[in-house]
Amino acid sequence: STTPVKVAVTGAAGQIGYSLLFRIASGALFGADTPVELRLLEITPALKALEGVVMELDDCAFPTLAGVQIGDDPNTIFDGVNHALLVGARPRGPGMERGDLLEANGGIFAPQGKALNSVAADDIRVTVTGNPANTNALIAMSNAPDIPKERFSALTRLDHNRAISQLAAKTGASVTDIKKMTIWGNHSATQYPDLFHTLVGGRVAAEVVNDQQWLESTYIPTVAKRGAAIIDARGSSSAASAASATIDHVHDWAAGTPADDWVSMSVCSDGSYGVPEGLISSFPVTVANGTWSIVQGLEIDDFSRGRIDATVKELGEERDAVKGLGLI
Ligand code: NAI
Repeated sequence: STTPVKVAVTGAAGQIGYSLLFRIASGALFGADTPVELRLLEITPALKALEGVVMELDDCAFPTLAGVQIGDDPNTIFDGVNHALLVGARPRGPGMERGDLLEANGGIFAPQGKALNSVAADDIRVTVTGNPANTNALIAMSNAPDIPKERFSALTRLDHNRAISQLAAKTGASVTDIKKMTIWGNHSATQYPDLFHTLVGGRVAAEVVNDQQWLESTYIPTVAKRGAAIIDARGSSSAASAASATIDHVHDWAAGTPADDWVSMSVCSDGSYGVPEGLISSFPVTVANGTWSIVQGLEIDDFSRGRIDATVKELGEERDAVKGLGLI
């Protein structure tokens, strides 16, 4: 029998966790033939609720679920894990400034980075979903000096999927006809969904749409503000779609991308496309053998350049803020 893949999930008793765990347990990450062992981290007061979720996982009798361990100590829960899905984060409360938010999350992601550094498996891969995702990933990475930087990532796959879905609706194409979507920069309102390299049925999306006004005034803001629109409609934040995107991200990191396509992942910049080295920024990436590579050689016109520079500037400001707080 195959050795189970050990997958840690933090914030496991939260909303996203409630959608995510059942997908992982049913084999959505690595296929039905690969058993998974879940390691679930929560804060102490949420452990009782998490026990209830584990009861439901038991009741599904998933053939791929090889075991579940829960706890509130990252050094125990992360022991030997191959993938860490860092979902639990501190949301912005009333009257909280950005600095307070970054500091509160530093208090979560710095110790989690340190714990991963000491106890995770040698092939550990880290995916940060909890917001502010890019900067939380930067904090975790900076506190894990022995883990190669390319093993850290943040989730911009939900933005990527939203961008595909909105483009499909506009053009009447099916989502499978859309290839090479790119989200650049930060998982925030400044993110830039780029239609100048995306293909719809093999043709450049911006040309298929042929409406710069729609692109600037409708498409980009609709994708970037989709999270707020869902809160408005549903009364709580997007959780099932965030869980689904987290699955897509980790699945593709393990399985690779098809030859004629790429995905958006926030990864540590090597300076490509003028994004300062060391920032965790979203890029178009291909994946092979568990290793991502930033797609090279794309032509960036003035419009795209301005949008990329703006979102990257915000990432630089977040980095400077957490540096100022001594978190990295
Ligand atoms: P939630 O509030 O329902 O759940 C978060 C859970 O994290 C809670 O159960 C909490 O107890 C736990 N937690 C807090 N601190 C922890 C710690 N130190 N260790 C372990 N667990 C801890 O929130 P939800 O809806 O599940 O969202 C989780 C995060 O994902 C939020 O930061 C949210 O903003 C973010 N998000 C990111 C998206 C993306 O595309 N990157 C999309 C949607 C949400």
